Amino acid sequence: MMSSEDGYRRALCCGLGVVSRAVSLDRWERRYAARAQGMVASEVRALFAVASRPEIVSLAGGMPDVAALPMDVMAATMSDLVAGQGPTALQYGSAQGDPGLREALCAVMAMEGITAEPDNVVVTVGSQQALDLLARIFVDPGDVVLTESPTYVTAIATFRACQADLVSVAMDDDGLIPAALAQTIARLAAAGRCPKLLYTVPTFQNPAGVTLAAERRGAVVEICQRAGVLIVEDNPYGLLGFEGGPMRPLRADAPEDAVVYLGSMSKTLAPGLRVGWALAPPAVKDKLVLAAESAMLSHSVFAQLVVQRYLSTQPWADQLKGLRVMYRARRDAMLDALAVAMPAGATWTRPAGGFFVWVTLPDGVDTRAMLPRAIAARVAYVPGIGFHPDGQGANTMRLSYCFPPPDRVAEGVHRLGRVLRRELALLDMFGRPASPA
Ligand SMILES: Cc1ncc(COP(=O)(O)O)c(C=O)c1O
Repeated sequence: MMSSEDGYRRALCCGLGVVSRAVSLDRWERRYAARAQGMVASEVRALFAVASRPEIVSLAGGMPDVAALPMDVMAATMSDLVAGQGPTALQYGSAQGDPGLREALCAVMAMEGITAEPDNVVVTVGSQQALDLLARIFVDPGDVVLTESPTYVTAIATFRACQADLVSVAMDDDGLIPAALAQTIARLAAAGRCPKLLYTVPTFQNPAGVTLAAERRGAVVEICQRAGVLIVEDNPYGLLGFEGGPMRPLRADAPEDAVVYLGSMSKTLAPGLRVGWALAPPAVKDKLVLAAESAMLSHSVFAQLVVQRYLSTQPWADQLKGLRVMYRARRDAMLDALAVAMPAGATWTRPAGGFFVWVTLPDGVDTRAMLPRAIAARVAYVPGIGFHPDGQGANTMRLSYCFPPPDRVAEGVHRLGRVLRRELALLDMFGRPASPA
């Protein structure tokens, strides 16, 4: 029988990708399609097994704090729905999604300045499914998809599953750099290649916590328009800003056919309901509906109607204010603790919203190799390398402040600071590995 200690060690190994591959126990290994070869467990998923132990402060996951939801109200919403509309709520629905919910989602997007028609919205199983459907309808093997670097790790996995060639575009504390975007597209054009998509999380980015500056947004759209590159704007955190009103998404000021906008109720209501959506140009919307049909026939009507009812009967916009206050306090706790606990040479981002801070450590620190020592010190984070399509970022890490309360966030950062100091002392003693040429 496997002891819990063995399980712990195994999970740790999985997190580090060091499971032995010498002998495959999979009888069907040689039968998988070529596109399945690129499917590997993400750093984040493998980590959950370890990071959920109560003695560990997890700064690893990106889970919203759903305990902040009024559970009694949610329970009443569900029960009223079944009592009043059971035969509809428990039936199949359309692949495009419930019309009433699509209308409600247009009102959600209007909060950020987007004017949208319900007919151009496709409801999906979280925005993750929208991403998957887009990859399926646009990406042939070898097609170029442009991304930020670092970028959302599951987007990397999704595009790789369609055998995309992911090409990174440089970013800084103000998000994507338009000149770098133009140069990358020009370089690819010189090699006879035109990217199909730009995948971007412009607001409160996962993982870096940075936001594309307002004055860069028009340029990004214009460059992509000129080059014929469709923008996929992934915006699950846009309504969770801590400073001032919401940022206008790219979609709000771009031509209708320039952007596919992805939204989600996961971070502002509950990820367990799995309600996300895509707002797409009409022709792309038609393809998305066909792809959704073959993927799942229809989304859960029950989940869609729960969200629709909740939005129409509850003061959701006021609850959002409460979420912003809660996450801002956690962000502040993290930034305050980082200022005290981080060693010289470390830098980090200062998110104006969302869930994540991105830390860059002195050269030579390998955050993947350091993770077991951090876990032993009872703190977890996500090594940065998995967020880089080009394998960069060995000395980076993503810290999330969304789930633990502020005192635990601070405690986690102080534990991490102690681990880092020991790490740097060892590096000073034994020398730093030579950087790759
Ligand atoms: C940038 C980004 N896109 C998409 C998703 C997927 O969210 P959903 O729960 O809507 O599928 C996440 C979840 O963490 C995310 O951070």
